[in-house]
Amino acid sequence: MSGNVFGSIFRVMTFGESHGPYIGMVIDGLKPGLAINSEQIQQELDRRRPGQSELVTPRQETDRAEIISGIFEGKTTGTPLCILIRNQDQRSQDYQKLQNLLRPGHASYSYLQKYGIFDYRGGGRASGRETASRVAAGAVARQLLKQRDIQIFAYTRQIGDVMIDSVDLAEIEKNPVRSPDASTAKKMAAAISRAQQEGDSLGGVIEIVVKNCPAGLGEPVFNKLEADLAQALMSIGAVKAFEMGGGFSAAHQRGSNFNDLFYYDPESKKFRTRTNQAGGILGGISNGEDLVMRIAVKPPSSISKKQNTVDLSGSPAELEIKGRHDPCICPRVVPVAEAMVALVLIDHLLLQERISSQKELEDVRHKVDTIDTQILLLYAQRRKLIGDIARIKKDKQIPVLDKTREKEKEKRMQEMARELQLPSKMTTELFQLFLQDSYAIQEEILR
Ligand SMILES: Cc1cc2nc3c(=O)[nH]c(=O)nc-3n(C[C@H](O)[C@H](O)[C@H](O)COP(=O)(O)O)c2cc1C
Repeated sequence: MSGNVFGSIFRVMTFGESHGPYIGMVIDGLKPGLAINSEQIQQELDRRRPGQSELVTPRQETDRAEIISGIFEGKTTGTPLCILIRNQDQRSQDYQKLQNLLRPGHASYSYLQKYGIFDYRGGGRASGRETASRVAAGAVARQLLKQRDIQIFAYTRQIGDVMIDSVDLAEIEKNPVRSPDASTAKKMAAAISRAQQEGDSLGGVIEIVVKNCPAGLGEPVFNKLEADLAQALMSIGAVKAFEMGGGFSAAHQRGSNFNDLFYYDPESKKFRTRTNQAGGILGGISNGEDLVMRIAVKPPSSISKKQNTVDLSGSPAELEIKGRHDPCICPRVVPVAEAMVALVLIDHLLLQERISSQKELEDVRHKVDTIDTQILLLYAQRRKLIGDIARIKKDKQIPVLDKTREKEKEKRMQEMARELQLPSKMTTELFQLFLQDSYAIQEEILR
């Protein structure tokens, strides 16, 4: 089974299954010496873990991050960073009755078609549990992004028919639905409870905003920033749609309205746009505005309402799921979405820094080459002037050698070398070379 690795420089592999002993992740490609706070990794895992409120599954997982390798005394060592998260509250017996039934909305049927085998206990790799590993990896990426002042916020924008009216980022973590609008949060929670009482579930929309994203991230053509963000977010289970900036509203707008008009902002000394229908990306490359994207999350498939289905022999069957499931997963997908966006951004940022450092090297090399050329030009000028001296000496019958002048000049050169902190041996050797060259030119002319 491939497709378990994400990223090109900051490479993350997640492993483990919902009903095995552990899940976890390995990050490859971290430089040594980067400050990483393990408590912050735990805080992110706590935001995603189940059992936080009545609105999410009561499955009790402490999701303790066990750092196995890659960090020593709060800094990366440059070796693969491995984190294990123990599965504690699986209750595999809940699934035994379902093992021969095709579960609507679940991955079991397509897994069976692909692999010919399926672990019926929970969703295996398709389970929402896998996303704990992503959150751990994302927490590392987020810290590196924060060191560059890049911040990612996600929140629940819509649940069922209830849509937010305003955005106050400070509200998000104060309510169980992770809404940025306190008054709508109550309506969302009520809608979820109602669906749950009816044995049903609810979907929603999550909005993700990136602040201080530098301009220039994203590779043209196949690795456009929005293409990579879409892939990252669509790889989360239950995510059914992605849109960037104006997104689907683009379909019923005119260019004169959809275009983001440019202006020059003297305060930041940057070119900005008055609106942000592009969602902070033009031509696949970030333009310095906030990145704004949304994902649609489907209502969880595990509902206690009776559903008609078939068993593996094709006979009709009824399905009634009694396990512990989320009636709406939006609040728990919020930290997962932030993690995936963090993984995309850190990868693009490291790629950009690699390109920039290559460019920096080329710029400095160019300057050195220019200096070397100037040295040769000056050397040619010097030889010409020495020839002029030789002709004057010949006319006036002045001897070539002048030991007093030579000594004074060498002294001056050494003093200057000290001031410029140049190596004295090298300066003396250079001086001697010039002197020999001067004698050779003069003797040739005076012969
Ligand atoms: C954090 C998280 C928690 C999830 N919890 C549940 C759940 O309790 N019940 C459920 O039916 N699906 C849940 N899912 C969704 C399933 O994993 C997903 O719908 C299923 O694997 C089928 O994949 P698909 O919907 O992407 O096609 C969860 C997903 C995430 C990301």
